[in-house]
Amino acid sequence: MKEVLINKFDYEGNGITTLNGKKIFVNNALPNEKVQIEIIENKSNYSKARVKKFIKKSNIRRNSPCPYEECGGCNLLHIHYDDELKFKQNKINELFNNIENINDIIPADNEFNYRNKITIKVDKKIGYYKKNSHDIVPIKKCLLAKNEINEILKSITKLNLKNIKELTIKSSEDTMLIIKGEISNYKDFLNLNVDNILVLNNNKYTCIKGNDFITDTLQDIKLIIKKDSFYQINKKQTIKLYNEIIRLGKFNKNDTVLDMYCGIGTISLFISKYVKKVIGIEINKNAIKSANENKKINNIKNTYFHCLNANEIKITEKVDKIIVDPPRGGLDKKTIEFLNKSNANVIIYVSCNPITLKRDIELLKQFYSLKEITPVDMFPNTHHVECVSVLHQKSPKK
Ligand SMILES: C[S@@+](CC[C@H](N)C(=O)[O-])C[C@H]1O[C@@H](n2cnc3c(N)ncnc32)[C@H](O)[C@@H]1O
Repeated sequence: MKEVLINKFDYEGNGITTLNGKKIFVNNALPNEKVQIEIIENKSNYSKARVKKFIKKSNIRRNSPCPYEECGGCNLLHIHYDDELKFKQNKINELFNNIENINDIIPADNEFNYRNKITIKVDKKIGYYKKNSHDIVPIKKCLLAKNEINEILKSITKLNLKNIKELTIKSSEDTMLIIKGEISNYKDFLNLNVDNILVLNNNKYTCIKGNDFITDTLQDIKLIIKKDSFYQINKKQTIKLYNEIIRLGKFNKNDTVLDMYCGIGTISLFISKYVKKVIGIEINKNAIKSANENKKINNIKNTYFHCLNANEIKITEKVDKIIVDPPRGGLDKKTIEFLNKSNANVIIYVSCNPITLKRDIELLKQFYSLKEITPVDMFPNTHHVECVSVLHQKSPKK
């Protein structure tokens, strides 16, 4: 057994130490802790290890408030929230070489009970997958999920779940349960205190109670969210994120804005009152359907949605500002080419993966310079950080 001193955090919140010149990533170890470790994976240029014994603990460590140690969902439950925010801020500062224009992270009001959606695996047991495996860790409740979700989960665990593979529970203004698999005990499910229930079997959805959508309101924007469309999982932080987009975008009534990866139109509709026109594009047909319904119920006239792959976009009119909010993989080559040729004077890049954000900013740097980045804590108790960044065109094209 080796005794080591942990030097720093890695990107996911594991401790890093060096042994005989080799980097070792130690799960559940914190900077400045002295620990005995056991190597669990040995690669040529690094190893992974777990803690066998703590010799000296860090003062940022807390007892995890979650009883399910093995569940792979959260990886920062063992540090105090203030320290988690420092970890996230430092991560962004280091990744972007401590440039001056990184703003303070926008913290969450609620460290727990913020998730409006969870997906639970079912296979004899009911719970989350253990990290890097398909073993189910049984859970009775999830600290990150909204209380309404935990109430539903509690009543579901009492039912016969034979032939069910997965359960998704959503809670916004109303609640939804999506059952993946087959059910025979319909009555039991219909008696659950859930507004909308859908069964997903052989890739086909059947609504057995209520509607195939749920509703929510973001500040003054009413939303219809279809069963399979992307929706941000932390409502309070989403409102802060979108207001940060407005602050950094400095929109005005002459602006035509292109909102790429627009989902159900949330950002487009949120900013519509500040600008002349918004064009939203999105690959998911159902999301675009919802975006158009959302436009209608909010009586917004200056926003137009199109179902389109971002990398196939061709715009003939002048666009002043472009918002991109891609999935974790970031922007592909064609989309980067489009942005570089676009002649937009501002690009606002919303990203849930700082690594691809950095890569893409680098690919845009011939024509755009990074002005500001604001990290936003959308996912407390996990290592994930959302960022809003604003890039300005270096010089307009003729
Ligand atoms: C991170 S979500 C952002 C959604 C929205 N901006 C919001 O805040 O709710 C990314 C969205 O990009 C869409 N998407 C993924 N790949 C795409 C592509 N190649 N072209 C257009 N949209 C895409 C997804 O369907 C998803 O709705």
